[in-house]
Amino acid sequence: MTIKQASAQGVQWFEDARFGMFIHWGLYSILARGEWVMHHEKIAPAEYEKLAGQFNPYHFNADEWVSIAADAGQRYMVITSRHHDGFSMFDTALSDYKVTNTPFKRDPLRELADACARRRDVKLGFYSSLLDWHHPAYRFRKESGQTWADYIAFLHGQVRELCTQYGSIACIWFDGDWPVQKLGTDNAYFAPGGSFEYDKLYDMIHTLQPDAMVINNRHAEPLPGEDIQGFEQDLPGQNSAGFNAERIYDQPLETCMTLNDHWGAYAGDENHKSTRHLIHTLVRAASAGSNLLLNVGPTALGELLPAHVQRLREMGAWLTLFGESVYNTRVGAVIASPEVVSTSKDNTHYVHVLNYVSDVVPLKIVPASVKAATLLRDGSPVKLELQGDTAALLTIPYNQRDEFDTVVKLTA
Ligand code: GLC
Repeated sequence: MTIKQASAQGVQWFEDARFGMFIHWGLYSILARGEWVMHHEKIAPAEYEKLAGQFNPYHFNADEWVSIAADAGQRYMVITSRHHDGFSMFDTALSDYKVTNTPFKRDPLRELADACARRRDVKLGFYSSLLDWHHPAYRFRKESGQTWADYIAFLHGQVRELCTQYGSIACIWFDGDWPVQKLGTDNAYFAPGGSFEYDKLYDMIHTLQPDAMVINNRHAEPLPGEDIQGFEQDLPGQNSAGFNAERIYDQPLETCMTLNDHWGAYAGDENHKSTRHLIHTLVRAASAGSNLLLNVGPTALGELLPAHVQRLREMGAWLTLFGESVYNTRVGAVIASPEVVSTSKDNTHYVHVLNYVSDVVPLKIVPASVKAATLLRDGSPVKLELQGDTAALLTIPYNQRDEFDTVVKLTA
């Protein structure tokens, strides 16, 4: 059987979008020690479950979150429907361990889907954990008498719910393939010879939601049915995190990254990246042909951190002026240097001068069609000296530079 992929339309939407919001939100947000707290602190499921009785994010306002994303220039958001702790943040029919059985009672995924549908400029996608530290059929088969097939029915059934009950979705974002990669399929939690039955899972998604992109955070070459190569905490091709693939495959790309140092809420983590760094990361990602999925970890009360909202607003303000050089672009034709990266759209090329080294900016590869250079900011001409077939010099005096990124548009 050939496995379906996302539609051409879905792929184009994704690659044009370039910027999204990642949201890690769940019971762990109450403890505010990251989304791995249950595992790291060896909290027994029966103990951890008690958090459900406390979950009541009465400040949560879906319209507000969606407008913060839209104002930031983010074209999609991806929220945790169920993280590794096994708690469902939506009104699933397949488990009682879910958000609608907390004092909160509401389904935030439904509210976000409705808010996105009202605005139409931000699409919603869902993170889904492959592993589950709580489910009897994943972790406690001996004690519960459940089988691996029961777990697969649960996992696939939840994805079916996400694909059929929340309107048109941007993507399904899988995470937690590690037991397979690190321990093999024959470990304590995994049924001997078991698998996540990806072929069936991906085919179901592509049948129910032809435009939705499938990504699996496996840090490896995409499998058939996966539509995106993902990078975690690194730009494509870089591997400072130590677990990313260094090779870039011929697929749509996405880099996911935290705004501070954690995915889920983490009290005391004030190590927020600067707006300048974030804009540079977005532009560097785009220049490599990649989207940036930038993570926020809301509080247990349903608030985004003010420090994050501020940075998102600043990114949005920048994108209002310079978004033309990011959205709908593809890998840049002008070769990157520590000073410069580029993005391209047909015969138009955007040179992003990120750092000031000298007034004269050397460009290594310039497509032959290029004849003129202007500042994207106001259309004023920039001195362009073509040198032979492929090289050129731009002259941009220091007082003409922009705060974050001086964008020069090269045209025929
Ligand atoms: C890592 C973390 C996981 C998080 C994911 C997001 O895999 O372990 O908790 O959800 O990154 O990319």
